[in-house]
Amino acid sequence: MIMNDEKDPLLLDHEADGIRELDNKLPRWWVWLFNLTIAFSGAYMLYYHVFDRGALMAAEYQREMEVGEKVKQAALDRFEKEMMTMQPSTDRAVLDEGEKLFTVNCMPCHRADGGGLVGPNITDDYWIHGSEFKDNLRIISNGVPEKGMVTWKTLMKPTQIYAVGSYIYTLRGSNPPNPKPPENQAPAQPEVNIYE
Ligand code: HEC
Repeated sequence: MIMNDEKDPLLLDHEADGIRELDNKLPRWWVWLFNLTIAFSGAYMLYYHVFDRGALMAAEYQREMEVGEKVKQAALDRFEKEMMTMQPSTDRAVLDEGEKLFTVNCMPCHRADGGGLVGPNITDDYWIHGSEFKDNLRIISNGVPEKGMVTWKTLMKPTQIYAVGSYIYTLRGSNPPNPKPPENQAPAQPEVNIYE
């Protein structure tokens, strides 16, 4: 039996190794905070789970992904239009970026010097899909999946496609050794602008 010497009404009737427990009243602010959390959880449950008014994390993620996808698609659509009139860049920084992208992504199929391996030679005058800069950009962007050319727009930003397209433009006419033979069609005619 524990002796409640002090007759302290707060002192509980049990003891362990001399440690005794006080039955203090909880501070008011604490109790209110506690009540508030209960009210909050009730409101939360009604709002999100019973009446389905708010989007849960998974739905919110889904929605944000959709918005992101739309933004990306809009940028791609814009690029696809701009592509038609773009000129290859001569900016050193852009070409350097293009060269890096080429080394990492394109070299395995087109060879470091563009002479061609699995993919065709991209330094000669023979083109499967057109010889203009915009033709190159279009093929890099959309790819030719059935022939093994990757659809780069799913993996690269428009600025990167432009950079790598500009870089391979500088490889034209570089006559690398042992190139892949030209695809069996006539060389592209030089681009002539009759209005100039
Ligand atoms: C997995 C192999 C592969 C990779 C990687 C690859 N290509 Fe290709 N590429 C091809 C093939 C195959 C073709 C020919 C498609 C055809 O026959 O229609 C091609 C065609 C092209 C063409 C059109 C050539 C023409 O004659 O009209 C261009 C330009 C081109 N690739 C650029 C690139 C660039 C730039 C990269 C890197 C960002 C790249 N390729 C990466 C396989 C590849």
